[in-house]
Amino acid sequence: MALVRNRVGLPAKCDLQIKAKREVCSFEFHSVPGDKSISQRAIVLNAIAEGKGTVYNVLRSRDIESCIAILRQLGVTIAWNGDDLSVHGKGLRGLQAPAGRLEVGNTATSARLILSVLAGQSFAAELGGNALLSARPMDWVVQPLTDMGAVIEYLGTKGCLPLRIQGASPLSPIEMEATVFSAQEKSALLFAGLYAEGITCYRQRCQSRDHTERLMHYFGIDIQSDNDVTFLKGGKAFSAKDVMVPGDLSSAAFLLAAYAIRRAERKGSLLIKGVGVNPTRSGFTGLLAEMGLHLTLQAEAELISGEPIADIYCTPGTRLSSVLAEGNGRIQSLIDEVPLLAAVSAFAEGDTVIRDCGELRDKDTNRIQTTAGVLRAFGVETSCSEDEMVIHGGRRLSPAIVDSCGDHRIAMTAAVLASSLDEPSIIRNCGCINVSYPGFVEDLSQFADIDVLYAE
Ligand code: S3P
Repeated sequence: MALVRNRVGLPAKCDLQIKAKREVCSFEFHSVPGDKSISQRAIVLNAIAEGKGTVYNVLRSRDIESCIAILRQLGVTIAWNGDDLSVHGKGLRGLQAPAGRLEVGNTATSARLILSVLAGQSFAAELGGNALLSARPMDWVVQPLTDMGAVIEYLGTKGCLPLRIQGASPLSPIEMEATVFSAQEKSALLFAGLYAEGITCYRQRCQSRDHTERLMHYFGIDIQSDNDVTFLKGGKAFSAKDVMVPGDLSSAAFLLAAYAIRRAERKGSLLIKGVGVNPTRSGFTGLLAEMGLHLTLQAEAELISGEPIADIYCTPGTRLSSVLAEGNGRIQSLIDEVPLLAAVSAFAEGDTVIRDCGELRDKDTNRIQTTAGVLRAFGVETSCSEDEMVIHGGRRLSPAIVDSCGDHRIAMTAAVLASSLDEPSIIRNCGCINVSYPGFVEDLSQFADIDVLYAE
């Protein structure tokens, strides 16, 4: 059937049949979808600010729709105008008690940010998520919020959604050491800190993405970071701001990977414009360059919200060679690209080792397991343990039939692998791609012939 285009995304239940396009071409992407992490932070911050802010180039995906739906249930007026979103802030404590349970769907980031906002309200609310999110831990956010004064009760499995939260006003500031390698833990604490009278302090275990710190600084919030410690002085209203969201490097990464593994004789050049290149996110591009891809940044600039952007330009480079990816900071800077790094490694000479990636067990799926499963289905010898993967590269892949297990990044990683092969592969259960990249099939179809097959 004809490809379903950007705005609508894929049917909720569908499979994809994918094979390589044979012709030689150059690839140009004038934009990639807005960054998911920054979109959510900018929307939530404007929702609790004073006045109206517009968030430009917002990612229009299922996760963002879930975030918006919840804020509307809390009384925030939000309107789309193309890819821009106007948000009429209610102030820190102007939200209204919701009529029913707040359903956050698949999005862990929104769940954790909104939980912190609810912790500072004077009403109670229930928060639930879909099956994948309800299996993921919430306790490392719940514990500090409880320490700050919120009362939280699990309504199902202990430590997970759904839960009931009774906020407290004001919250008490705390000093906290990270318990996990996670920007979501840091961001949740900083959002809660906005509701605390005094200084909230968070010490991270290693550098994780710093979008919250950059955005809060831009919003005029009293926040300072000194090496791995961030201090936030809360309890003060702040004004709404217009925010331009850069293109999502985690989405651009799929196009970079599809290009990197394309057969040498078919490669032209690749240009992707307007991508966020925050160094706390750009570990994947660094490793692609180390592996032998010629990759340069052009038109580098900084948005007024403090986020660096650039156009990414690639030419074929040498044959890909294996790499060693290790160290918590480095892995954090490519945490969502580890499945893709593993996929590209299958095309590199030698064994690639990815260490310190145990955090992947708590993503939409256990991504160490699901990534290894996809690679093996394509005939790539892969071994893994609790926090390490070894990919034996350089051997010919065979077409595969694989299931995404409902995980958007696994579905897209498998699709990228399929895009390199002349014989068709089938990727089952691809509706989840709408979570982060509804236009993915359209974009990948520059590299591959893709048919959307309905599962029912
Ligand atoms: C995110 C942080 C990362 C990442 C997720 C989005 C964020 O999770 O995997 O997709 O927006 O802060 P952790 O912070 O838990 O590593």
